[in-house]
Amino acid sequence: MRILSFYFGHDANVTLLDEGEVVCVLEKERLTRVKHDAGPMDLAAILEDYGWTPESVDLVVFNPYLRPGRDGRRFALEIEGERYDERPDYKQDGWCGPPEGRMSRHRIRLFGRPFEALAVDHHLAHAAGALFTSPFAEAGILSADGSGDLRACAMAWGAGNRIHEIEYGWGYEKKKMQLNIGAVWASLGEYNFGMKRLEGAGKLMGLASYGTPREEIVAVLREQMLYYPYAPFQTFRFGRGDELALEPEDPFAQDVCASLQQLTTELFLEAARRLKSRWPVACAVLTGGCAMNCIANTAVHRSSLFAGTWVPAQPHDGGLSLGQALFAWHHVLGRPRTPRPLTPYLGTDAGPLPEERAEEIVGFLEQGLSVGLCYGRAESGPRALGHRSILLDPRIPDGKERLNREVKHREWYRPYAPMVLGGDWGVPGKYMSYIVPVAAHGVPAVTHVDGTTRPQILEEGDDPFLLRLLRLWRERTGCALLLNTSFNCQEPLVDTVAQARATWRRTGLDVLVTPEGVETKTGRPGAGAQ
Ligand SMILES: [Fe+2]
Repeated sequence: MRILSFYFGHDANVTLLDEGEVVCVLEKERLTRVKHDAGPMDLAAILEDYGWTPESVDLVVFNPYLRPGRDGRRFALEIEGERYDERPDYKQDGWCGPPEGRMSRHRIRLFGRPFEALAVDHHLAHAAGALFTSPFAEAGILSADGSGDLRACAMAWGAGNRIHEIEYGWGYEKKKMQLNIGAVWASLGEYNFGMKRLEGAGKLMGLASYGTPREEIVAVLREQMLYYPYAPFQTFRFGRGDELALEPEDPFAQDVCASLQQLTTELFLEAARRLKSRWPVACAVLTGGCAMNCIANTAVHRSSLFAGTWVPAQPHDGGLSLGQALFAWHHVLGRPRTPRPLTPYLGTDAGPLPEERAEEIVGFLEQGLSVGLCYGRAESGPRALGHRSILLDPRIPDGKERLNREVKHREWYRPYAPMVLGGDWGVPGKYMSYIVPVAAHGVPAVTHVDGTTRPQILEEGDDPFLLRLLRLWRERTGCALLLNTSFNCQEPLVDTVAQARATWRRTGLDVLVTPEGVETKTGRPGAGAQ
């Protein structure tokens, strides 16, 4: 049974699933080099790349909510059958029921021929993707984003290979209202800070740690989440005239972000309590774009409501085709599942590295050099997890400023994260989704202003090359952490060796390590080690 699944909203993506095994999860932005790229992808070329033919596809799974691509062209689905979003109850606020109410069966025409097909709702795909890639047999699921297919949040309960029930719109205060956490982060970034809409939240979460939450700001933000999430933050309610613009250096702007963070954390906790009282679950999985908020995730994890929590590697919309495909395989087709974390390395394959390369990399890092690493299959999801990563010694006092200046050109207030060799950190930090305190660890380049960091924790069973690298690093330095940031410079994560080399050449990144060899720059320490 071969399943082709696609999602063509922003962060468009495609998944191929063969007998329940994930063949690939491909994000459009990695292929087109346009961040968060939306719209149709070349399905025929993807099938061919992975040795599939259209005739070999047994089932197509899709999201029917289509947005035009960058060129403005609309992509029309040729489908037969009533779509779930055309049913009279689709816009009913607070809809709750079995997931069959948020999916529909169709015949779809692709590649000039018809296929059996399923349409799956946005938050249902988030929920299924999160549970079915987690280590839990049963869990409650919280999903929140900036509004996926008209809904900003949902909670669900799943066990075994089924999602039993899904309820839309947690966080109601009044009938017909839903709190839109993600849209307020995005609007604050876009309208007040002048950032790109889909990039504001990630940046401002970093800035939030510089400010202090203030109750009067929290109250205004709470109102905004209910009534006008797509409008700017109302700075004029704080004696600032008509000026809506905010600057990161401004303490008031920092306090606004800190207040939004506090409100987000409060709402996550409120939702978690509601989830726990609604269904008798021991564990929770958190998903949707808002589950990239590591502080809120950590608050839920540490709340003692659950024995365990989990955030998938791809909680954002880039994971929707995977969620749709797994929902079809397990829930609709009834195929059993073995609860275990799914590997995040599901993208383009750059090829393997020889084991001994780890020793060379540690040598460069000990000299204080930055190392760009591109090998194996690219990470699915928003975080670089070692296969398309830039590494640096986290003990370097001005390591963060150096990387910002020479390589990444990022905002001064954004933190860097580490990969960590094991240890009891108290969070399931496989994919950099939780925070831990590190102020006492002597790693200033990855220590945020609040003394925390969001680690990728590697344990036995994880990527063998990265484990070897971290063990060697610890042996030589006594330090179990390495700064690990995405291999890119103001662009999507590099996908191929050629892209990695191009980014290495045009930035101040010192060393490039790929399956094609080790490349250094003349005039820098270590140069000549080809
Ligand atoms: Fe979403």
